[in-house]
Amino acid sequence: MLLLPLLLLLPPTSSTLLPRQSTKSRLTPPPGCLSVGPTQAHKTLTAGLAALPPSRQSCIFLHPGTYAGQTNITSRTALLTIYGSTSDTSDFRANTATLTNTLSSPDAGSLIASATLHVDVPHFAMYNVNVRNGYGKGKQAVALSATGTHVYHGVALSSYQDTLYARAGTQLYTSSHITGAVDYIFGMASVWISHSVLTSTGSGAITASGRSTPSDPAWIVISKSKIEGKEDLKGRVLLGRPWRVHARVMFQECVLGDVVSKSGWGPMAKDAKPLFYEYANTGPGAGGKERKMSTAAKGLVGVEEVLGRGWREWAGDVAAGSVDGK
Ligand SMILES: *[C@@H]1O[C@H](CO)[C@@H](O)[C@H](O)[C@H]1NC(C)=O
Repeated sequence: MLLLPLLLLLPPTSSTLLPRQSTKSRLTPPPGCLSVGPTQAHKTLTAGLAALPPSRQSCIFLHPGTYAGQTNITSRTALLTIYGSTSDTSDFRANTATLTNTLSSPDAGSLIASATLHVDVPHFAMYNVNVRNGYGKGKQAVALSATGTHVYHGVALSSYQDTLYARAGTQLYTSSHITGAVDYIFGMASVWISHSVLTSTGSGAITASGRSTPSDPAWIVISKSKIEGKEDLKGRVLLGRPWRVHARVMFQECVLGDVVSKSGWGPMAKDAKPLFYEYANTGPGAGGKERKMSTAAKGLVGVEEVLGRGWREWAGDVAAGSVDGK
């Protein structure tokens, strides 16, 4: 009886892209999680990881702070979950924990060696953490390199070129923010990104799919997300270009800002036969007759086609709930 008047007092939801299902905070470590923070016994993520047996399912809570340097998460067999401190777990906007490093791929020797956070483990989840590569314009510089069956919810990834290297495996990104200019979502993994914001900070392609054979099940699907960028980028952002010849990308039910070029897609790999789809998008950048290299979509791509049938089991309630959200 008391509930109804209370509900009427709540403001109407302002954004369908980033539904605020709740404003639940997470300001202290969830039960059983190891604390990492500037004033904790373990001051860096790397120090925290060293304290956790690799074959035991475990979690780490990152207290507010800027954590400088690289972190490699490899050779762990059990699920590891990293939670950042936040006053609002529903998306990235109230994140307070930032992993940051400044290193380019040519300087580091490889793409993965440039990554601020390199995760190559079978099962991994991360909530409400920012990951930044501060190198800027000019060379490839990865913020997050991800290999495995992974969930990222409420993360903010930023660099200029090659921000997110979804290297291999099956990965879900929800209610997140990805920033970059050139090929800033790329790789061979099968990726579903939903209820997120992609911000272009320079002219270039958003995606560069590394799918290399016609039978490769990999997809990059951007669903129910917002594509935006600075005013001076009007018409200068491509949705994708084929890093490998059988690149496969879908943008569906997104709001495409006016930064998206009329041609939509551009060339990269020689003799590429990419599958570049768009379906049910809105906004000034949504596809028209001038699109190049695109393939007509028959309908929406389903999440099971991209993440596999058992995806809900590994995605967890928060990320799965976000996918289900309007
Ligand atoms: C992380 O791994 C890369 C190689 O992929 C290496 O160059 C780098 O030194 C490692 N960083 C740390 C902090 O262990």
